Amino acid sequence: MGFAYTDLSVDRDDLRDDVLTGLAASPKSIPPKYFYDEAGCRLFEAICAQPEYVLCRTEQSLMAAHLPDIAAALGPVDCIIEPGAGDCVKVRRLLDTLHPANLVVMDIAGAPLAAAAEPLSRDYPALAVTALGMDFIHDLEAATPYLPAGRRLVYYPGSSIGNFAPDEASALLARFRQLASAQGQLLIGFDLKKDPQRLHAAYNDAAGVTAAFNLNLLARLNRELGADFDLTRFRHYAFYNPVAGRIEMHLVSLAEQDIHIAGQRVHFALGETLHTEHSYKFRGDEFSALAQIAGWTLKAAWEHDGFAVQLYG
Ligand code: TRP
Repeated sequence: MGFAYTDLSVDRDDLRDDVLTGLAASPKSIPPKYFYDEAGCRLFEAICAQPEYVLCRTEQSLMAAHLPDIAAALGPVDCIIEPGAGDCVKVRRLLDTLHPANLVVMDIAGAPLAAAAEPLSRDYPALAVTALGMDFIHDLEAATPYLPAGRRLVYYPGSSIGNFAPDEASALLARFRQLASAQGQLLIGFDLKKDPQRLHAAYNDAAGVTAAFNLNLLARLNRELGADFDLTRFRHYAFYNPVAGRIEMHLVSLAEQDIHIAGQRVHFALGETLHTEHSYKFRGDEFSALAQIAGWTLKAAWEHDGFAVQLYG
């Protein structure tokens, strides 16, 4: 049924403005969506293959084991919408089972998304595939004209929802509610609270791929904004904060130093951190409270080895 790609993505000025704003703040931070340039997408896929980072594999075995129940709970679905679809691998399982007429995938990394989504239209000849290169966090509503009518399912796997602070997470879930429209549903994955040592290990893999992923953010700023970060003078530092219930990912300055970026000088004190990402962990009931605030009603829930998938209507 064909394939269409539309680029609605952010331009370089947004990157520059967001980064300069984040570097001027105290504590310093950069929005995690900027991890995902082409190198960042590849590194992220490599993280999912690390032995310590079990989340992706656990979610996939949960989905494989419970797919008949999930499909029965969902009922008929005309259109699957996946924000942040990345390499478009996870959604194949749902396509095989639910046979929707339409798939709409979105990702901030537009070119890799288009390359991953196009083969879907060949592998599923009856499916109409729409790929949108866009910042859905900033402007989800831009997708509205591309959404076909019918029963919609918003699919948000992989625990990406944990990368938002709780108030931002419920705001995003509320916008998913709008996007799904009256008959729509939400199938969402998230990581459960568990032994902090297991959580710590997942974000500190021995091969150093997560460290490379975190540092690639600075390499990207060097490439795209002509910054002069010395990557040997920043250290990946990720830890579980049990009080806040989240993994915190930082880049710690190993020296007092000045860096230059987009015509500005930025000072780092020795030990100062640049915060790059949070990954919140939930209990099942904590998460459903959040989704309820956003207007969703819990329909069914599955848990497996520290990971959860919940269905809302
Ligand atoms: N959202 C997932 C998580 O928080 C995947 C992810 C995003 C991730 N950024 C990451 C995994 C950085 C490892 C490192 O776990």
